[in-house]
Amino acid sequence: MKSHTQSLLAESLNALKQQGIVPADFEARIQVDRTKDKSHGDFATNLAMMLTKAAGKNPREIAQLLIDNLPTSAHVEKVEIAGPGFINFFIDDNALANQLMTALNSDTFGIDLPAPQTVVVDYSSPNLAKEMHVGHLRSTIIGDSVVRALEFMGHKVIRQNHVGDWGTQFGMLLAYMEELQAANGEQAKMELADLETFYRAAKVRFDESEEFATRARKLVVELQSGDDYCNKLWREFNDISLSHCHELYERLGVSLTRADVRGESAYNSDLAQVVADLDAQGLLSESNGAKVVFQDEFKNKEGEPLPVIIQKADGGYLYATSDLAAMRYRSNVLNADRALYFVDLRQALHFQQVFKLAKTAKFVREEMSFEHMGFGTMNGEDGRPFKTRSGGVVKLIDLLKEADTRALELVRSKNPEMDEAELAEIARVVGIASVKYADLSKNRASDYIFSFEQMLSFEGNTAPYLLYAYTRVAGIFKRAQDVDLSDAKIILEHEKEKDLGTKLAQFGEVMARMVSKGQPHALCGYLFELAGAFSSFYEACPVLAAESEELKKSRLLLSQLTAKTLKQGLNLLGLETLERM
Ligand code: ARG
Repeated sequence: MKSHTQSLLAESLNALKQQGIVPADFEARIQVDRTKDKSHGDFATNLAMMLTKAAGKNPREIAQLLIDNLPTSAHVEKVEIAGPGFINFFIDDNALANQLMTALNSDTFGIDLPAPQTVVVDYSSPNLAKEMHVGHLRSTIIGDSVVRALEFMGHKVIRQNHVGDWGTQFGMLLAYMEELQAANGEQAKMELADLETFYRAAKVRFDESEEFATRARKLVVELQSGDDYCNKLWREFNDISLSHCHELYERLGVSLTRADVRGESAYNSDLAQVVADLDAQGLLSESNGAKVVFQDEFKNKEGEPLPVIIQKADGGYLYATSDLAAMRYRSNVLNADRALYFVDLRQALHFQQVFKLAKTAKFVREEMSFEHMGFGTMNGEDGRPFKTRSGGVVKLIDLLKEADTRALELVRSKNPEMDEAELAEIARVVGIASVKYADLSKNRASDYIFSFEQMLSFEGNTAPYLLYAYTRVAGIFKRAQDVDLSDAKIILEHEKEKDLGTKLAQFGEVMARMVSKGQPHALCGYLFELAGAFSSFYEACPVLAAESEELKKSRLLLSQLTAKTLKQGLNLLGLETLERM
C-alpha cells in the first residue's frame, strides 16, 4: 500500500505541475512513512512541506491542493491534513481483503482487463542459413513471455516467426546440397545435422571453385524465378533448418509452432509492388544505381542523409524491402492494432526508418502502432560478446545441455537421497528456468552477462530462488489438507499481513506494465518482492499455529493466493513450476 500511496501522490503532484501551481521541473522524492499511531491513519507524507518554497504557498494550503488532485482509489478510506501540513492516509483494509478474495476466485485474478487488441509479435526470427545461436535466445525467450502475458490479459496474439529464409546465400547452400546429394545421400543428411559446419563447407566450396560459385548464382536466380527444382531443394533445406529450431523451442518450452513461421520469402511476390508503390508516390531516389528512400529525420553524425535501400543496382531486394511488405501485411491483412518486434537493439535505426517510411507511404493504418522492443547483447563473463573458448559462436543447444548438467549437480547436492529419475526431471526444469529467468529478469535494453554461476544460485533474484519459494508456499497446504476453507475470510491485521496483501494486490498493475512496455523484468522483480513479502509474513505470522481458527484460515488463504500468483507469474514468464525440489 505504501507504493500505491506514493503513486497516488505522484499523480497528484503531476496534476499540480500541469496546473502551474508547482514548477514543472520540480523534482521531489515522495516520502511516505508508516504512522506510529493508528489514529493518524496508516501512512503519512511530508510532501506538502517540501513544496512550500517551490509553490510559494503555506503547507496546509498545498496539502489541500494535493488532496484535491489525488486520483480516487478503492484502497483509500480517507485522507486528512494533520498538524503543520502532513497528509495522513487511512487505508481501507476491507476493500483490500475483498480484492484479494476476488483474485483467489478468478482465473484472471480479478484484474481489470483492457479492451482486447490484436497484437502481432515478431520474435525469434532466426536466419535459416545458419544454426540458431545465442543471439536469438533473447528474442525467443523475451518475446515468448510477452506473448503469454498479452494472451493472459485477453489480447489476441498473432505470432510471427520472421525467419531469414531468402537471399543470395541460399544459392551457395543449395549448390552444396546438390553436390553432396549427388555424391552420397547419407553424407548430405549427416552434414545437414550441423548447419554451422554445413555453411562453412559450402562457403569453402564457393571460394575455391569458380564453377561452384557460378552454379550457386544461377540457382539463386532460378529460385527467385520460381523454378520447381530449386524450390524443392530450398524447401528441403529450410525444412531441416526449421526442425532444428523447433527442437530448441520444444526444449525451451517456447510456444512457437510451425504455423507461426512466416519468413522473408513469404513476401517475395510483394516486393516489386512495394518498389512500384514507393515510386508512384515519388519517394524513391537513385544512389549508385540502387533505389533508395531518403527521409529528413535520418542523418549520420556528419549530417549526411542515411537512406533506406529498397532495391540494389542488380535488382536484388533487401531486408528493409521485405520488412515494408511485412508491415503492410500485418496492418492490412492481419488487421493488428499493434506489432511488436523483439529484435537486437543494433537494428534500432533500421526499424525507425522502415516504421516511419511505411507510415509516410500509407502502407499501414495510421492508428496502428509499431514498436521495436530492442534488446542488448548477451556477453560472456569477460564482458565481451559471448563466444566459445575457441572463439566460435556458442550454439544454443550446447548452452542448454550445460545448464542441464549444472542444474543436476545443484539439485543432487541438495537432495542426495533422491532417485535419479526425479533428480533428472527437476534438473531439467531448473536448468531451463535458470537460463530463461536470467535473461528475463534484466532490463532487456541493457547488455547482460551470461553467468551459469549466478543464474543457478539460490540467492537473489534467480529462478532457483523463486522455484524454491514456490515449493515452500505450496508445501504449507500439504500440511493443511484437512482444513475446510469454504467459509474462510481474509483478515488483514498484522502489519506483515497487510504488506503481503498489498503486494498481492499489485499483480494487475504489473501485468499491465509488462504488456504495454514489453518488459518481463517488471514481472520478475515483482515475483521476487512477493516471495520476500511472503517470507517476512511467514516469519512474523504463524499459519498452522495461528492464535485462532479464523486467523489460521485467513493466513492459509493468503498463502494460497501467494502460491497461485507465483505460479501464474512464473508460467507467464514461460517457466514450469515444481511441487518439490
Ligand atoms: N532474421 C533477422 C536477424 O536475425 C531478424 C528478423 C527480425 N524481424 C523483422 N521483421 N525484421 O537479424
